[in-house]
Amino acid sequence: MSPAVPADPGGFVVWFEGLAGAGKTTLSRATAAQLRSRGWKVEVLDGDELRHVFSPDLGYSRHDREEHARRVSYVAHLLARNGVAVMVAMITPYETSRQAARSEVGPRFEEVWLKVPIEVCRQRDPKGIYRRNEAGAVRHVTGIDDPFEEPLNPELTVDTSTMSVEDATRRVLDHLRDRQLVRVG
Ligand SMILES: Nc1ncnc2c1ncn2[C@@H]1O[C@H](COP(=O)(O)OP(=O)(O)O)[C@@H](O)[C@H]1O
Ligand SMILES: [Mg+2]
Repeated sequence: MSPAVPADPGGFVVWFEGLAGAGKTTLSRATAAQLRSRGWKVEVLDGDELRHVFSPDLGYSRHDREEHARRVSYVAHLLARNGVAVMVAMITPYETSRQAARSEVGPRFEEVWLKVPIEVCRQRDPKGIYRRNEAGAVRHVTGIDDPFEEPLNPELTVDTSTMSVEDATRRVLDHLRDRQLVRVG
């Protein structure tokens, strides 16, 4: 007799949030690489990249940011329920979006807040967004002229200004192991 309930495919979502330059893209990719090398099926959903595909109709108003997050969380859930380890990299400035993503995905949802002083992000400025904002060429920069609400329930908070990429990746992997989502050490 086959069991009525299929085996848990084991997928989950790690939702990296924080200001531009906090390290979301870097850590989502580094964590993905580590999991992949341990045999996991992994996808990285990077909010910036997916805007072109999912949300060319959306801008940076509160409504549009929330709608974009909703679309990304929907796909994250589809993948996770099919056994994929999903890394999401999105600023996610509003608590409503985080809560909506959490309830879309279900219990296998780990919110990781990359809590970095904005001065550090501004110095890193990986995409030149702060520089262009200062020059008056870009508005709606989160933390400058758009809000970033402090996350209320992150499972993990990492200050990437005080550690290397390798150490930050290790923190995330250790956390996933502590939560019994992965067995890797
Ligand atoms: N511990 C760390 N974790 C993540 N990124 C770090 C860390 N230390 C330095 N960095 C650097 O900070 C920058 C973060 O950029 P990025 O990952 O593109 O940020 P985001 O996607 O959040 O806008 C990269 O240049 C990265 O090398
Ligand atoms: Mg990024």
